[in-house]
Amino acid sequence: FIHSKSRAELEYLHNAAVAVDRQGRIAAVVKDRGSVGVARDEVLGQMGWRADEVDVVQCGEGQFFFPGFIDTHVHASQYPNVGIFGKSTLLDWLDKYTFPLESSLSDLAKATKVYTACVRRTLAHGTTTATYFATIDVPATNLLADLCLSIGQRAFVGRVCMDRKGFCPDYYRDESPEDSMRATRETIAHIDEIDPGYRLVSPILTPRFAPSCSKDVMNGLMKLQREKNFPVQTHISENKDEVELVKTIHPGPGSYAAVYDDHGLLTPETVLAHAVHLTEEEGNLISQRESKISHCPCSNSSLASGEARVRWMWDKGIDVGLGTDMSGGYSPSILEAARQATLMSRHLAMQIDDEECREKCKLTVEEALYLGTRGGAVCLGLGDEVGGFEVGKQLDAQLIGLGEVGEDGSRAGENSNDWVDAGNVDVFGWETWEEKIAKWLYNGDDRNTKKVWVKGRLVHSRR
Ligand code: GUN
Ligand code: FE
Repeated sequence: FIHSKSRAELEYLHNAAVAVDRQGRIAAVVKDRGSVGVARDEVLGQMGWRADEVDVVQCGEGQFFFPGFIDTHVHASQYPNVGIFGKSTLLDWLDKYTFPLESSLSDLAKATKVYTACVRRTLAHGTTTATYFATIDVPATNLLADLCLSIGQRAFVGRVCMDRKGFCPDYYRDESPEDSMRATRETIAHIDEIDPGYRLVSPILTPRFAPSCSKDVMNGLMKLQREKNFPVQTHISENKDEVELVKTIHPGPGSYAAVYDDHGLLTPETVLAHAVHLTEEEGNLISQRESKISHCPCSNSSLASGEARVRWMWDKGIDVGLGTDMSGGYSPSILEAARQATLMSRHLAMQIDDEECREKCKLTVEEALYLGTRGGAVCLGLGDEVGGFEVGKQLDAQLIGLGEVGEDGSRAGENSNDWVDAGNVDVFGWETWEEKIAKWLYNGDDRNTKKVWVKGRLVHSRR
């Protein structure tokens, strides 16, 4: 078992065993025994369980369990468009690619196909928690919630609010602020019905972003937020033209962050995607309000939005998670987002003259994987629930397998009938665990993700 011990450090639980109860909670952990068998027997003894009463999942040689990934910002409705963005940037990308696709998902047959594929695909990449934007369509959004529940992915499902004439196209816009609020409440009521207590699926208030929302919608969502302390998700300061647009539409507050703050939307439950072009004052305000940031490096590179500064956010005390931002981002994988986060931090570092600051700016393998697991959990208020292997947490996990290279240099499985898809990761046998993890981060993909569990339930198995 490998998980983050802190932002800077991974913990390796060798010869370990974890007991998971019927509710999917971790009930006991032992580590550093003489062998896995000893650890397993000790856990069984602690629980008073007989080996033949329980399902035992044992990882193979070179395999390890890792916490499930947490995608803190992803548009399920945009999944068919991954990779399709040309040379566009945010505002023309929305008009050209995104709004037409999203509006077409009011066709429920199409929505079923897209949402099923999205949930299954992200699970196959090890994403056990996803924070989704759906569309403005209530039946299709409710369908996404149904699918997350039945397929078994932990999810926050947001019905998108966008009512501002002048920005939102006529063919894809809420008719009025009242319409936005009514539709938002309908999706909340639906989730209340299918998953009372929000054990797997939760609603999340979703003002798309300041340019698409009237003051009345933002104020209405603020009031609704206060009712049950609902989580909130939106976009902030992704693109320079967008920042200028917000200044002209909402000139009063003085900054993009202040627009949300003036409408009561900067709460500790708020996840702000992107945050590329924030000023010092905005960073301080977000920190003061304890709002969270979803860093979406694939998207920021694809749409040429800019480079968000994770170290700068951390230095301000802001909690940060990772988002794929499909389809602004081209990949459904949080492993890819983690990899891109390290590369983006190096591009930022290359712009810094001072050596100490330059080196500090670079994100490490450990930090990138923290962002994709525990960091995301904290952003979603799930810090005590998921993200690591501690007693009391729920078991959201993935089993990772890397490929052992044979004596003759053959890749894992190539010479064998027992074909093992090792993906792009070749392990020679002399690497340390730290090095194996680095190879996984930079070369791994869904072929290495052998099995995935959410709340102790097996939800994906790679054939
Ligand atoms: N800003 C407003 N809507 C969107 C969206 O769908 N994707 C991204 N990346 N930014 C947005
Ligand atoms: Fe987005």
